[in-house]
Amino acid sequence: MLRVDQLTFAHPGQVKPYVFSLLAAPGEITAVSGASGAGKSTLLDLLAGFLTPTAGTMTLDGRDLLPLPPEERPVSLLLQAQSLFDHLRTDSNVRLGLPARTSRHEADQKVRAALEDVGLVGLDHQRASTLSGGQKQRAALARTLLRNRPVLLLDEPFSALDDATRATIRDLVLTLTRDRGWHTILVSHHADDIAAIASRRYVIADGTLIAT
Ligand SMILES: Nc1ncnc2c1ncn2[C@@H]1O[C@H](COP(=O)(O)OP(=O)(O)O)[C@@H](O)[C@H]1O
Ligand SMILES: [Mg+2]
Repeated sequence: MLRVDQLTFAHPGQVKPYVFSLLAAPGEITAVSGASGAGKSTLLDLLAGFLTPTAGTMTLDGRDLLPLPPEERPVSLLLQAQSLFDHLRTDSNVRLGLPARTSRHEADQKVRAALEDVGLVGLDHQRASTLSGGQKQRAALARTLLRNRPVLLLDEPFSALDDATRATIRDLVLTLTRDRGWHTILVSHHADDIAAIASRRYVIADGTLIAT
């Protein structure tokens, strides 16, 4: 279980700090919604370790995550605007999810398995710039699969996709979350996405998370 309790933070000049408390279970999607500017990305940046809270706790199965720098946290972050390298092939982009020391043979096998899991077989050698929006999100998910961190943070990951692609990718996220036992936190303003895949729901209002 991921437990966030009274995690407190204020941006420079912010008078009333955010105070976030949240529970996320393994194999489940926990949705966070809220108006633009409500603090959703701030919450994810705190969980990922890009921002440092002034008070509160964050534990995964009892382990304190707050002392860990971002790269050592058991956390992956997937954004709406994809961070693929356009000039690299799909498989090379996915390969970046593995530690640099991974052997060529092991990397090839793992990349192939991840591409299969996300339905991208056959596009391995294509440059990322030639992939559709949905294919890019699949490639980014494959990279996340190889990182295989138990907490997955998604910041509006489907927003740039058309409706049909969005539904497919969001179902893929649910399947992977269940199979891998990830604690997935999905920031979305799409009520239909949340209704379709989330087990727990929160709204950020007035600087705090409210369970709904
Ligand atoms: N680096 C920053 N410095 C000061 N204020 C910021 C910074 N980043 C975000 N904010 C402010 O914090 C609030 C919440 O931002 P954000 O978490 O990005 O909201 P959301 O993702 O819900 O749209 C906004 O009012 C935004 O302007
Ligand atoms: Mg945001």
